[in-house]
Amino acid sequence: EKPFKIAVIGSGNWGTTIAKVVTENAKQYDKLFYPIVQMWVFEEEIEGEKLTEIINTRHENVKYLPGIRLPSHLVANPDLLDTVKDADILVFNIPHQFLSRIVSQLKGHVPPTVRAISCLKGFELGDKGVQLLSSFITDELNIQCGALSGANIAMEVAKKKWSETTVAYQMPEDFRGKGKDVDHQVLKALFHRPYFHVSVIDDVAGISIAGALKNVVALGCGFVEGLGWGNNAAAAIQRVGLGEIIKFGQMFFPESSVETYYKESAGVADLITTCSGGRNVKVGKMMAKTGKTALECENELLNGQSAQGIITSKEVHDWLVTCNKVEDYPLFEAVYQIVFNNVSMDKIPEMIEELDSLG
Ligand code: NAD
Ligand code: 13P
Repeated sequence: EKPFKIAVIGSGNWGTTIAKVVTENAKQYDKLFYPIVQMWVFEEEIEGEKLTEIINTRHENVKYLPGIRLPSHLVANPDLLDTVKDADILVFNIPHQFLSRIVSQLKGHVPPTVRAISCLKGFELGDKGVQLLSSFITDELNIQCGALSGANIAMEVAKKKWSETTVAYQMPEDFRGKGKDVDHQVLKALFHRPYFHVSVIDDVAGISIAGALKNVVALGCGFVEGLGWGNNAAAAIQRVGLGEIIKFGQMFFPESSVETYYKESAGVADLITTCSGGRNVKVGKMMAKTGKTALECENELLNGQSAQGIITSKEVHDWLVTCNKVEDYPLFEAVYQIVFNNVSMDKIPEMIEELDSLG
């Protein structure tokens, strides 16, 4: 049978890292996968040279994943439609604010037999209300899409330091028994490495909600750390944040399972790693220390990378306003008000205080 051909859409810090992971596996399992992997690059020039040319000749993404050698059969491609041509599996991995534009460019160019995995963290907010990014891809392109999410700071995975992740995928309902398709074993072969341990489950909603919302919590954690309030305060933010993540899942995506949050890498483990060393926590800390805006800190700190919690906090706020549920999520709302309305960070404790019977 023909091997699966893989295309990765995105080449940022995580996009390039995951492209490296799947290319290593494509080489190892050369009967299951076509060994050359295409990676779409949003083209830019670096000191007069195209980033795609740098990646294809020096095998390094000098801007978004510097210092990491990439496999030579990973091909950087600036043409989106050429990247996905004849692909059987699409791995989406771009900052989520760019997803709807990319998907609209792909419309009509992807056959329904193609399968997809979204490695993005965030939500799509549109006519259908708040949507998982995988559901958005499925609806727009008419292809089955799962998700990959976990406690995965990209640079650590790129350096082959051991970590775990969760992949969630549901087989298309009309598929069973109709020949070769992507199943949990294929996905495990695609993403699992000796240094990157994959668990494959069904709960796409649970892992996606946890992955999106922990970025908002991490900003809050950065605020209290930047204010010098210490570890106890950071733990308090994570405790309240986890509660709001679970509540959000149960309220808006009842198909998600509470177990996922504590059993899977995509749950509490991702919250912990992001709050310890992720980009969102760094942005929150810098905001607290300098008084600069979130976007100024993102620009100054991240060299073109994105702290997804900034726009996720707005998506969540807008959705909660629509549903008249803002008061049920005081931490998410506090982060939004601090980031977008310049509310003082000092107010966090009173903003998230749970009023009890003594109050
Ligand atoms: P990133 O933060 O490194 O963003 C930079 C990328 O965005 C570059 O490839 C750049 O070319 C691209 N870009 C800039 N402008 C663009 C445009 N107009 N259209 C399309 N692309 C554009 O990206 P990343 O770290 O690869 O993150 C991708 C997703 O993975 C995010 O949702 C993120 O939350 C998630 N994620 C990241 C990490 C991590 O440690 N970096 C880990 C897990 C998940
Ligand atoms: P940041 O985007 O905050 O760096 O978090 C990365 C991540 O998602 C770790 O799993």
